[in-house]
Amino acid sequence: MSGPQFRENTRAPAVTGNPFILLLLLVPMTGMLAGPSHSADLMAGKAKVQAVCQTCHGLDGKATVPMAANLSGQQKEYLIAQLEAYRSGKRKHEQMAIVAKLLSDEDIENVAEWYSSIKVTIELPR
Ligand code: HEC
Repeated sequence: MSGPQFRENTRAPAVTGNPFILLLLLVPMTGMLAGPSHSADLMAGKAKVQAVCQTCHGLDGKATVPMAANLSGQQKEYLIAQLEAYRSGKRKHEQMAIVAKLLSDEDIENVAEWYSSIKVTIELPR
């Protein structure tokens, strides 16, 4: 009875040698390394937001229309991922697709820097 149980347990450490697990750990790490190497230009981001995004999302990231998202203080990586998804068509929305196609990789980096850099304070409802 105790024999088979013991053998099952000894097999478990083999998982740590699995190259796939190693890959799962390394992929996010290379992403983190790539992050800071882009140098985002906050003021160029502000100018782009004023020119293109402000009408719907506000300069401060507080949406001016009910169906647009608030963007102030949003995670930078999330903003970049959404803008890339709108641009490629992976995420579908008529207005945002038009807007995102106007943006270069650099623009995306910069506007994401702008909106993610806005400080937000949070107050829970009482
Ligand atoms: C004409 C209005 C309009 C303009 C201009 C506009 N947006 Fe949007 N945006 C929207 C709407 C509406 C949505 C919600 C789309 C959806 O449901 O997917 C949205 C969604 C987004 C989202 C996804 C938010 C989330 O929580 O997932 C991001 C990021 C975004 N916009 C960034 C921008 C940026 C950056 C600009 C300027 C370069 C911009 N938008 C310009 C209307 C606009």
